[in-house]
Amino acid sequence: MPSQLFLIAADGSRTEVDPKHKFEGLTIDWRGEGSVVEIHEGAKFRGSKLILGHRSTVRIDDSRERGVFDGVVVWLGGAGAVDVNLTIGHSFSMFGGGQIFLRDESKLSVVIGDDVMISTNVVIQASDGHIIRDASGEMVNAAHDPSIVIGDHVWIGRNVLINKNVRLPLGTIVGSGSVVTKKFETENAAIAGNPAKVVREGLFWERKHNI
Ligand SMILES: CC(C)(COP(=O)(O)OP(=O)(O)OC[C@H]1O[C@@H](n2cnc3c(N)ncnc32)[C@H](O)[C@@H]1OP(=O)(O)O)[C@@H](O)C(=O)NCCC(=O)NCCS
Repeated sequence: MPSQLFLIAADGSRTEVDPKHKFEGLTIDWRGEGSVVEIHEGAKFRGSKLILGHRSTVRIDDSRERGVFDGVVVWLGGAGAVDVNLTIGHSFSMFGGGQIFLRDESKLSVVIGDDVMISTNVVIQASDGHIIRDASGEMVNAAHDPSIVIGDHVWIGRNVLINKNVRLPLGTIVGSGSVVTKKFETENAAIAGNPAKVVREGLFWERKHNI
């Protein structure tokens, strides 16, 4: 089954375009079949790349005055993985060499809400990439479904790793250099460290600029 590319208009309507359609600032590397990519006409990119294996779906909403800039790589499928899904809400910003990986394991999904701000050098990885088994041969490191949920208005600081099976609720701030390994429940909290833990609660952050 061939892959399909759709442009989403401001009124939400979808128009199918040739998968070779050129987006300014975004290279799409189609490496498999049966993928569906939906990109809002207001999504902005600069120097970024989307790599797709088999049966992957990606939906990227309107970036408004923000975007995905300067060397961000988003990689779905690969190494036999199929049925992986990434959704990114509106007003998203990510820049400076970050990576989002949904590779190596099937049925992975990552959901990123609205108004999420991601600093430089952040890696979001929905699976461990390799298999760990217990003595009975059971796989013990499978990703949950969804593997990663990043809520609305979350700020992820510099050099952060987001591992599998993570949830960041509304308003979370992730301190620089943190390694996030689990689901958090408290909204509007700062989490930090390796492994990340709640360090402050009742915080409300705002953007000073759009990069
Ligand atoms: C997370 C952050 C925003 C919190 O700032 P804050 O509210 O002023 O918090 P504080 O500095 O009072 O720190 C609270 C506690 O968390 C700890 N902490 C803060 N940031 C930490 C981090 N990145 N890693 C580990 N621990 C951290 C502090 O040591 C302190 O611990 P204590 O209570 O035991 O003394 C800030 O520390 C941070 O990481 N800033 C960098 C943001 C960034 O990457 N910006 C790039 C541009 S987008």
